[in-house]
Amino acid sequence: METFHPIGVFDSGFGGLTVLRAFEDLLPHYDYLYLGDNARAPYGSNSFETVYTNTLQCVEYLLGRGCRLVILACNTASAKALRTIQQKDLPRMDSGVRVLGVIRPTAETAGNFSNTGNLGIFATAGTVASGSYPLEIAKFFPEMRVVQEACPLWVPLVETGQYHEPSAHPLIRKPVENLFSRAPRTDVIILGCTHYPLLLPAILKLVPPGVTVLSQEGIVADSLCSYLGRHPDLESRCSKEGKREFLTTDSAAAFSAHATEFFGREVSTSHVDLS
Ligand code: DGL
Repeated sequence: METFHPIGVFDSGFGGLTVLRAFEDLLPHYDYLYLGDNARAPYGSNSFETVYTNTLQCVEYLLGRGCRLVILACNTASAKALRTIQQKDLPRMDSGVRVLGVIRPTAETAGNFSNTGNLGIFATAGTVASGSYPLEIAKFFPEMRVVQEACPLWVPLVETGQYHEPSAHPLIRKPVENLFSRAPRTDVIILGCTHYPLLLPAILKLVPPGVTVLSQEGIVADSLCSYLGRHPDLESRCSKEGKREFLTTDSAAAFSAHATEFFGREVSTSHVDLS
């Protein structure tokens, strides 16, 4: 009998590794199966239909590999595909499986850090256009003022490693300046893309003093921990041998070479063909 029932972790590419790293820190005994859709990344400026179709295909693959719980560790996929997958696709599949995203847990928590009632969001163009963050934040913090800034160049800068180069500085600085010129009273920033934690040191140097910059991976890991505690049936069906498997739709060698930067240690990757 198949006994590998890992928690599936999905991202368009490398960004979800920042989330998996936090899962590993908090919940090391579970098995995890990571899938990066690098061949079709970035998702950030793709249409709703494209993000939904690609995300669903990856989720179906992970469920087919034995996952009973899949985390969309990608804000763009959470914004554009999660609701449809939960409402339309999961009911026609195995009713015992669950797919969760990263926006709701982040929105649920972020307002607690603000004194001025002004939150700022940096995210991909797709996440910003979906309006998911303002909508979710309004459910938990109805008085909160939310300003979003799309950062379409940040994911390519991170995926290619160019963010280390001096030529990247103005490209990182511009969205930060834009947001604070539109909303100077902002005192909390959400990094609403799982690639952005790699830019955190640069962003911290650019925001005004006293501004809290929230990187979401710790928040999402706490939320998963609490979700598993509240769903013992599902939790008991997740295997716990501390195994990790890494998959990419692009080159396995390139993924392994670049993954360390996101994950903090070396990984061995296999290629998966979803075409
Ligand atoms: N890491 C993904 C996110 O959290 C987006 C990256 C992309 O544009 O593919 O939104």
